[in-house]
Amino acid sequence: MAFINWDDSLSVKINSIDDQHKKLVDMINEFYDSIINRTNNEGILNLIAAMKNYTVVHFAHEEKLMKQLSYPGFPDHKKEHDLFVAKVLEVEERTKSGKLVISLEITTFLKDWLKNHINVTDKKYTMFFIQNGVK
Ligand code: FEO
Repeated sequence: MAFINWDDSLSVKINSIDDQHKKLVDMINEFYDSIINRTNNEGILNLIAAMKNYTVVHFAHEEKLMKQLSYPGFPDHKKEHDLFVAKVLEVEERTKSGKLVISLEITTFLKDWLKNHINVTDKKYTMFFIQNGVK
């Protein structure tokens, strides 16, 4: 069973962004599976790097749209993105240096952060983006 399921309740009603969120959900599930299956540290670090890279791509996509359209919520939204990237970088660094053993707690943090961010922060731009022709 998947650790996190993407369903319509997580949709921001914009296909290009939903597709990226689905990919992030898949990556968190893959990360969860790797912990359950006791993947070695190198494998875990590869997954963290892939997740970090894709998250940066996704955030850049949203931020570009927000800037292009002068979305009023941009500064607060970007702050959340930046804090999350900093947290993932910290997890990556601490894992690399052996100071952190990746656990279900980290996976749960990623899951809860993503769900909360989509439901509370991303959904705030839905009407604005749709009214401005974003699909
Ligand atoms: Fe979909 Fe603001 O991240």
